[in-house]
Amino acid sequence: MKITPEFLNKYNKTGPRYTSYPPATSFTQDFKSENFVPALINSNSHQPENISIYIHIPFCPQLCYFCGCNTQKFESAAKVRRYIDCVLKEIDTVAQHIDKSRKVSQVHWGGGTPNSINFDYIQEIMEKIGSHFSYTQNPEIAIECSPAYLSVEDIDRLATIGFNRVSLGIQDFNDEVLNAINRRPSKLPIDQVIERFRLNHFKGINLDLVYGLPLQTLESFRQNIEKAIALSPDRIVTFSYAHVPWVNENQKKMDESTMAGPDLKLQMLLAGFELLTNSGYESIGMDHFAKPTDDLAIAKHNKKLHRNFQGYCTRETTGQVYAFGSSGISQLWGTYAQNKKNLFHYMEAIEETGLAIDRGYSLSKEEIVIREVIDEVMCNGIVDFTEIGKRVKCNADDVKIITGFDGNKLQPFIEDGLAEVINDNVHVNADGMFVVRNIAMLFDPNLVKSTSKFSKTV
Ligand SMILES: C[S@@+](CC[C@H](N)C(=O)[O-])C[C@H]1O[C@@H](n2cnc3c(N)ncnc32)[C@H](O)[C@@H]1O
Ligand code: SF4
Repeated sequence: MKITPEFLNKYNKTGPRYTSYPPATSFTQDFKSENFVPALINSNSHQPENISIYIHIPFCPQLCYFCGCNTQKFESAAKVRRYIDCVLKEIDTVAQHIDKSRKVSQVHWGGGTPNSINFDYIQEIMEKIGSHFSYTQNPEIAIECSPAYLSVEDIDRLATIGFNRVSLGIQDFNDEVLNAINRRPSKLPIDQVIERFRLNHFKGINLDLVYGLPLQTLESFRQNIEKAIALSPDRIVTFSYAHVPWVNENQKKMDESTMAGPDLKLQMLLAGFELLTNSGYESIGMDHFAKPTDDLAIAKHNKKLHRNFQGYCTRETTGQVYAFGSSGISQLWGTYAQNKKNLFHYMEAIEETGLAIDRGYSLSKEEIVIREVIDEVMCNGIVDFTEIGKRVKCNADDVKIITGFDGNKLQPFIEDGLAEVINDNVHVNADGMFVVRNIAMLFDPNLVKSTSKFSKTV
């Protein structure tokens, strides 16, 4: 079927994004640091055995108006030093509760702009991690970088510290659009940046693009995609700009009249999809693309794709996530725990107790089953009830009962050629992945009837 804006509009209703199940909006403030310690200890006896570490750096030298990340303008070196000391202390506190026979398979640095801080601090934190934990044979050590603050020496230094994956925030190649969002262009030509990372044996090199920003047109967005393809990165992400000026004050500084409306954004999404898939990139999620040789594309083929708050990963390398720094979310087998978002509140809590949990959620056994099913639909477009049952220690029928699965509700998707049932398992096809959130909702018995607090599904 040819996916058209009209088709997508048919399915475009409100629903959870399912970046986690239950969604972060369900986290409650009764979950505190006292609840986190037993959850940490409990995580030692659950799968995945591997450890994923997330380090959040909430500083940027300049704030882009469109940004929805938890970050703030860099003010003083003393404040950054104080923050780094807190992250070091938090790692010491959490590490006491982790079984040291478990290995680290992933480290992800996000923000904010991790590459805008003193690289000695980055090294200090990596050494702290190394002092507590050992690594698997081929760990993924990733960092999100703004190319505005990357020199050739910086790239070499990141490699020396141990990084082997990078995600570069491009957003748009056009200087006028960058001006309108208060963003600096890349310090070096992007092809040189990519080449230098490759020389240092980085894999999974990713470029982030955003559509829906001020002054962008369908044509200019196409040109962005074409430029990105010409650079031949391993992965390209096309984020839909999330405009929520009532949450992010800075977004009010942009001229709304120059931004694409929902219909044009759908056209941009489809144009990006077509250009990328016609150029040999494979669709990983609706807005994530990877070369067929990339680990994520291989994992997608093998139905081993997984997702956490840091993005897509593979079931082989993924671990339970232990997050450090303000706003970081730990994702353990049965628990989510989020740190305080406010920088000062985070630092005060860490200085006092070594932990800074603000809110969280303990999943019931049933919710763990639902989460596994929804993750599989969202990432791999498949529900193998028996296989999931094995993972959560129950049988296929229990999985159906717990998720409230009703084949009749899948029927319209089957009739539209988006999904099929083979050997009692549900398979979502490539077109169906455009509306995968709608299909995931069929397995969510707790979905609140009033879904007005959620965004549109497409
Ligand atoms: C932490 S930033 C990346 C690293 C670095 N700070 C940079 O800007 O290059 C993560 C990514 O989130 C995306 N992003 C940020 N705000 C967004 C928004 N409001 N809507 C959609 N995507 C957004 C951007 O593509 C950005 O590259
Ligand atoms: S997009 Fe990146 S550089 Fe810009 S404010 Fe957000 S985190 Fe900072």
